[in-house]
Amino acid sequence: MGDIIAGFCATHTPRIADEANAPEFTRELIAGMHELGDLVDTLRPDAIVMISTHWFTTFVHYVACHPRHKGYVTALECPDMINSLPYDFPGDPELGRLMVKKGDERGVPVFVADQPNFVFDYGSVVPVRYLTPRNDVPFVIVSLTAVCPLEEYYTWGEAVAAAIRELRRRVLVVTSGSFSHTLVRGPERWPLEEHQKLDRELVGLLCEGRLDEARAMLPWFVETTRAEGWGKHIAFLLSLLGASGHALKGKLHAYGPSSGSGNPVVSLLPVG
Ligand SMILES: [Fe+2]
Repeated sequence: MGDIIAGFCATHTPRIADEANAPEFTRELIAGMHELGDLVDTLRPDAIVMISTHWFTTFVHYVACHPRHKGYVTALECPDMINSLPYDFPGDPELGRLMVKKGDERGVPVFVADQPNFVFDYGSVVPVRYLTPRNDVPFVIVSLTAVCPLEEYYTWGEAVAAAIRELRRRVLVVTSGSFSHTLVRGPERWPLEEHQKLDRELVGLLCEGRLDEARAMLPWFVETTRAEGWGKHIAFLLSLLGASGHALKGKLHAYGPSSGSGNPVVSLLPVG
């Protein structure tokens, strides 16, 4: 039987890409990301479905369906910080293509991305380096779409869950993105106090498995904190965790700043 075995919230702040030279203010985030990597080793999922707020698509959703994701990423936003970073990790095209089919059946505009010279965003590559440092778990990465209502991510998540069930995969779902995202200059700067409080409030609901309340909170959380990716990565996670039917318990492994954004590193596991 296929199953969504856990959900993670990961950070991709570019300053952790080069761990050896990462600034002091990122150390808690780095430690938290390594804890998530250890959990991946324990959970041993068949595949990881990850949504990256930096694989930004305008009108429709895409799913990376390459059998192997291999290349170099230079971040357009900060090429001095992430310059020719290599990546080479497995994909799961069977799962990715079925996700697209199930989405299409539900009226979600979603397409396969399998072009040979496709280059991943750093929001995808940075978490992969921490979650699977040995590149031993396949990833199916999905884009974050601008011109779609938040609600569409709940339908899209149900489609993904249906594909997971049909293929009997044990899947870990990961968001790559900040929560509050009112950006300012100054990499070490924290979110406003009130935005930190809202980040922790939303994380608290997730960690207590109160998914309906998190879903109800999300639209005004997005509005108030300018959440990264309009919070659509969080909606996608909520949809998949809801579809799993599991009661959940979570842990906040780390919470840290990046240029005024709030970055929780979280694991959500079934109870019992
Ligand atoms: Fe980001």
